[in-house]
Formats: sequence, structure tokens, C-alpha cells
Amino acid sequence: MPPPKPNFLKVIILGDGAVGKSALMNRFVNNKFDNQSFHTIGVEFLNKEVKVGGTTYTLQIWDTAGQERFKSLRTPFYRGSDICLLVYSVDDEQSFYNLDTWKREFLYYADVKDAELFPFVLIGNKVDLPKHEVPTEQVEAWCHANNNMKCFMTSAKDSINVDQAFNASVEKWLTSEQNLDKQMKAGPNYTNQVNLDKHNTNLSGNQQDNEKTCC
Ligand code: GTP
Ligand code: MG
Repeated sequence: MPPPKPNFLKVIILGDGAVGKSALMNRFVNNKFDNQSFHTIGVEFLNKEVKVGGTTYTLQIWDTAGQERFKSLRTPFYRGSDICLLVYSVDDEQSFYNLDTWKREFLYYADVKDAELFPFVLIGNKVDLPKHEVPTEQVEAWCHANNNMKCFMTSAKDSINVDQAFNASVEKWLTSEQNLDKQMKAGPNYTNQVNLDKHNTNLSGNQQDNEKTCC
């Protein structure tokens, strides 16, 4: 019998200042949006229960400060994360270009052993705004280059795709756990393969079995 899966998951939200990380957490946990939010200093967390695949999980969601000056306050909290949500804002192309740095910083400070298996989800927030600075093809190419990372275009303001992004991150975590189990059973000669989960966005443009969420 395999050991029971833990159902307490630490979810960390990373991305530049003002991309809407706190707004996403507040929309997801409290179903609220505040136009006048303050920059986060360090980290804050909230818990929320979700049911995915018939199992209830408690997500402990860590909202971090995106501003560079708070780096030393946020990085000690990366360790022990089960899921990482990388956020950029669709009206701010620099926040998209900085995603590589965010991912690298996370892998380093969280001391992730297998970067390919770690469950990341990309979020392009503020889709309610008319200005979209990052072309769809560029987002798709980035996801493709990053182990076919799943991507959700959200609006914390208008409550678009927020629940879907969080729920999908748990599904991604489940898939990664299953792949880790397979690796352990196969022993040391196992070749490192990443199975895309069945809900993943097909980056050649064909959405598989759920509604199109990316771009
Ligand atoms: P730091 O805490 O500094 O890292 O920023 P943050 O990423 O937590 O951003 P925050 O959630 O504080 O949002 C920054 C600004 O963007 C606020 O004025 C929000 O009201 C606004 N905002 C957040 N999400 C959305 C959205 O989906 N649409 C629009 N139009 N504005 C948003
Ligand atoms: Mg914040």
C-alpha cells in the first residue's frame, strides 16, 4: 500500500510588485477585490480548502512581496513549498520578462531537487485591462520552454479564471507526485520523464479536455 497523500499543501505566489498576487489570493480565499491595495511587505498567508478529484486539500497560500527591496524578507519562506504560482501582469511586459528570474530564485531558495517535476503554474493577471503587452505566441513559447507549464489568464478584479488556476495547480501537484512515485518504484535506472497532465494546454493550439484558459 502506498503511503497516504498529504492533503495540506503550501502554495507560494511569486512575481513582480503590483502584478496582482495579493489580489489573486484575496479573490480566491475571500472572493473580494480591493482597488486600493498596498504593497506586501515580506509575506502573508491565508488558508483555503479545495476539493480536487474527490479529495479535500487545505491550501496554505503564501503571498510574497514582489518588490526587490523585500527580497531578503520573502526568500526564507520558499522552502517547503509544494506548488509555485508565477504571476505576471498582461499590461506590463517587464513583469513577463522577469519570470525566468522568479523561477530561478524560487528553485534556488526552495532548494528544489527536481526542477522538471516541480508543479509550477503561470498566471497572466489583469486580463480585464484593454492593454495586453505580451503576445500570445511569446507566452506559449515560454510555457513550452518551461516543461509545458500550464498557463491561466486571470482577472482578480473581474473574477476570471482565478479558481481554475488554483485548482489546476493542485492537479499539477498530483501529477508530479504520481511521477515521483513512479520514479521511486522504478529505482535508480529510471529515466527522468515528465508526463503532461491530461488537462494541460496543448501549445500547438489544441486545448485538450477543458476550456481554453491561456492567452
Ligand atoms: P506587491 O505586494 O507589491 O508584490 O504587489 P501585488 O502583486 O500583490 O499586487 P496587488 O495585488 O497589490 O495589486 C496591485 C494593483 O493592481 C492594485 O491596485 C490592484 O487593485 C490592481 N489589480 C490586481 N489585480 C487586478 C486585476 O485583475 N485587474 C485590474 N484591473 N487590476 C488589478
Ligand atoms: Mg502584494
